[in-house]
Amino acid sequence: MRKVETKTEGRSSRPVKELLSIAQVSLEEEDYGSSVFQFLNILKRDPNSAVARFGLGDAYFGLADYESAESTYRFGLEMYPNNSDGLFGLAATLRIIESYDEAIEFYERGFDVEPSRTAAYWELAYTREMTGDKIGAEWAYRKCLEKDPNHGMAKHLLASMLGTTTDRAPDDYVRDLFDDYADSFEQDLLNDLNYVVPTLIRKELKKITRSPNFQKICRFSSALDLGCGTGLVSEAIKGLVTKTDGVDLSEKMVKVAFEHQRYDNIYLQEMTTFLLDRTVGKPKYDLIVSGDALVYLGDLRSVFNGVSKRLSGKGVFCFSVEKLRSGSFSLCPTGRYAHSDGYIRDLSRTFGFELLAARDIVPRMDGSLKIRGRLYLLSLNGKS
Ligand SMILES: C[S@@+](CC[C@H](N)C(=O)[O-])C[C@H]1O[C@@H](n2cnc3c(N)ncnc32)[C@H](O)[C@@H]1O
Repeated sequence: MRKVETKTEGRSSRPVKELLSIAQVSLEEEDYGSSVFQFLNILKRDPNSAVARFGLGDAYFGLADYESAESTYRFGLEMYPNNSDGLFGLAATLRIIESYDEAIEFYERGFDVEPSRTAAYWELAYTREMTGDKIGAEWAYRKCLEKDPNHGMAKHLLASMLGTTTDRAPDDYVRDLFDDYADSFEQDLLNDLNYVVPTLIRKELKKITRSPNFQKICRFSSALDLGCGTGLVSEAIKGLVTKTDGVDLSEKMVKVAFEHQRYDNIYLQEMTTFLLDRTVGKPKYDLIVSGDALVYLGDLRSVFNGVSKRLSGKGVFCFSVEKLRSGSFSLCPTGRYAHSDGYIRDLSRTFGFELLAARDIVPRMDGSLKIRGRLYLLSLNGKS
């Protein structure tokens, strides 16, 4: 970050074109702080540069400074009303701040100018869905998929809107969702959504370390956290575990965990791929935990299979799911899956687990609504 800034500052007599390429590189590298500074400098020399004006909007957007992003795009669009970068940029900002009706107007104006911007179709679709326009949303999701049949976000959001249960959320859906969410994740979950799963996992594990059946376990020597995110579960079970590894798909979530040094090793990988490849991580763990992550998978057979292979003889598996009253699993309109108690018990039997505890929990709130969940504690007791 400093390198680019110094260069820009030191050679302000460079041609604007060159400064623009430097600022755009900063933007592409997601060094938003530097790119704001660089675009502002360019605009001092050339206030009419549309690239710098909308680039500045994108940089504010990247910093999650939506107020500055909105006013920058609006100012730019007064000069260049048909600039598609400005139109889509403002539309995306309005979508984030939940001004859905106006966002739709700007997406539609954007598509009039640039109908081939594939990614913006899922954004329009989602925005329409939020206003209750499911027909318009379906059209736009399908338009995105027509251009990119493997677009995970469009595929998954369309399936959840239509109530079509798939086996699992596509990896790129999970990655994009949590990469976008990483910076505000802990603040949102802990302060606003009353997220308690890590604390409940700790409570459950403490109970068994004290139970007479588990006299020999006062501390697990190795733990694996599936879908570890920023590391809240690892933080919660500190003191009960000697070493903890984490695995997660989202680079930005993992970056937060890494910065806080919450794991001994972190693997940026899909959890079932990790579990089934014994050449990565420890061959066996004493404890495997997963807080609010199995809700992004419907079919949990490969997770149970993998966990049964990676748990040591007396190993313990503790995880949360969202609750489904009947059936096996179902994709909900939220984009997350719910699992029935019967399904989890069947899988436990099939893969040789003993059920130690199962409780109803409220993992977190969704506005004023209580999410209904279950917390399970299983053991491979007796198996090696
Ligand atoms: C709601 S967050 C929970 C994070 C953490 N377990 C906690 O309790 O704070 C869900 C996490 O699971 C990860 N995740 C979801 N599906 C995954 C998969 N199939 N493989 C690896 N990570 C996954 C996401 O990237 C995200 O970081």
